[in-house]
Amino acid sequence: MRIDILSCVPSLLDSFFAHSILKRAQQANHVEVVIHDIRDYSTNKHRTIDDYAFGGGAGMVLQIEPIARCIRALQAERTYDEIIYLTPDGEQMQQRMVNQLSLKGNLMMLCGHYKGVDQRVRDLFVTKEISIGDYVLSGGELAAAVLADSIIRLIPGVLNDETSALTDSFQDNLLAPPVYSRPADFEGHKVPEILMSGHEAKIEEWRYEQSLKRTKERRPDLLQ
Ligand code: ADE
Repeated sequence: MRIDILSCVPSLLDSFFAHSILKRAQQANHVEVVIHDIRDYSTNKHRTIDDYAFGGGAGMVLQIEPIARCIRALQAERTYDEIIYLTPDGEQMQQRMVNQLSLKGNLMMLCGHYKGVDQRVRDLFVTKEISIGDYVLSGGELAAAVLADSIIRLIPGVLNDETSALTDSFQDNLLAPPVYSRPADFEGHKVPEILMSGHEAKIEEWRYEQSLKRTKERRPDLLQ
């Protein structure tokens, strides 16, 4: 898989992809993440990429020309399965959506800033608009990082234990059960006996019951 991210603050993203699982996923060639600075596609000497909104009002708008140049330069090299715009008015991100995106080959993600991007970018180039939740961030970079992280960890081979992504919260509309590690007794707070019984079927049953209990308590909407 290849993910191209278009941003006007690329340094916000550089360090995020340089660590831990995301770093290893790239080193093992499971994914290539390339971050592009939209300013590199500005044609004016001050490298500006935003301008006042027609019709007035507060806030600058990211202009179409540099973004169009950047997108077209990338499209000249490969075909993209989706061109995603991260925006609070997009479709709300869900695990189901992430699962589907993890099966794609080439994804482009466009991060907005200020008042957003010129609507014509969305009309002409964007194929999917995604929000990571009902709150407004100061830019799309964190949202792109959230989306890319959730996709990359699902690519086969990226997680050491391939089944572990399948037992995540949300994969089966249930929250994940509690987990414990050593010591078995911390200041009198003991690990549930069943987990140390070695009885696999009973442990699975306990985990399922715990998942169900947690989901009923915390997210009953998931069970509907
Ligand atoms: N950009 C700003 N806020 C956002 C959000 N909640 N989701 C996606 N992109 C955003």
